[in-house]
Amino acid sequence: MTRLYVHRLPVRIWHWVNAAGFLLLIFSGLQIRYVGYMEVLSFRSAVALHNWVGFALIANFFVWFFYHLLTDTGREYHQETNPRKYYEAAFRQMRYYGWGIFHGEPNPHRIQVYGKFNAMQSMLYEIVMAFVVPVQFVTGVLLWDVVRFKTAVDALGGVRVVDTIHVLCFIFFCGFIIVHVYLCSLGHTPSAHFKAMVDGYEDIDDQPHPASR
Ligand code: HEM
Repeated sequence: MTRLYVHRLPVRIWHWVNAAGFLLLIFSGLQIRYVGYMEVLSFRSAVALHNWVGFALIANFFVWFFYHLLTDTGREYHQETNPRKYYEAAFRQMRYYGWGIFHGEPNPHRIQVYGKFNAMQSMLYEIVMAFVVPVQFVTGVLLWDVVRFKTAVDALGGVRVVDTIHVLCFIFFCGFIIVHVYLCSLGHTPSAHFKAMVDGYEDIDDQPHPASR
């Protein structure tokens, strides 16, 4: 076994604050949406919780953004600059998760210090962090005060449109978390990647098991 330090402390702190915050946003968002059906919090408390956690996560997003912008960790998100090779590698990885892993094939990706993500992961994380998360946050801020941001809300087609985009992103994140946690459980042991996101170290099999990554 070789130990590789792959997740630095700021990334780990950002990640677990983000994960806990997203779960709170999902829970309080459901409470706001289904007022009368869910009675864990009052409507007022659910809105207050949703707003506070939302703003905390926006600040946390900027920690992630500037850390990756100002250090060399950002390149993890886009290792391959040739689009054809990138898509081929991502497709190979999808094929592995959908077929190869069930037939004992070796994982096409091997974790390295500057190559912790496989192509499918880096593509998914890039889309989530550069597009879906910002859209979720911007629509959230607009809905937080539709009067103050009336011009922007109207430019986007009105409150209903902004709300629909916000809810569609919410549905995306519910699915993302399930798929994300499942894929994170496919290390050489089911808890290996979770442990790595806690202490920073991935244990790499020197002689990889066919179905490990
Ligand atoms: C219960 C919730 C979650 C759990 C248990 C979880 C678990 C993990 C684990 C174990 C990793 C490291 C393995 C890997 O790199 O694939 C990871 C990485 C990552 N997760 Fe999560 N996650 C959760 C929620 C989220 C959410 C809500 C987001 C985004 C909105 C997210 C975005 C990411 C990103 C971008 C990385 C890569 C971070 C980096 O190394 O730069 N995760 N997650």
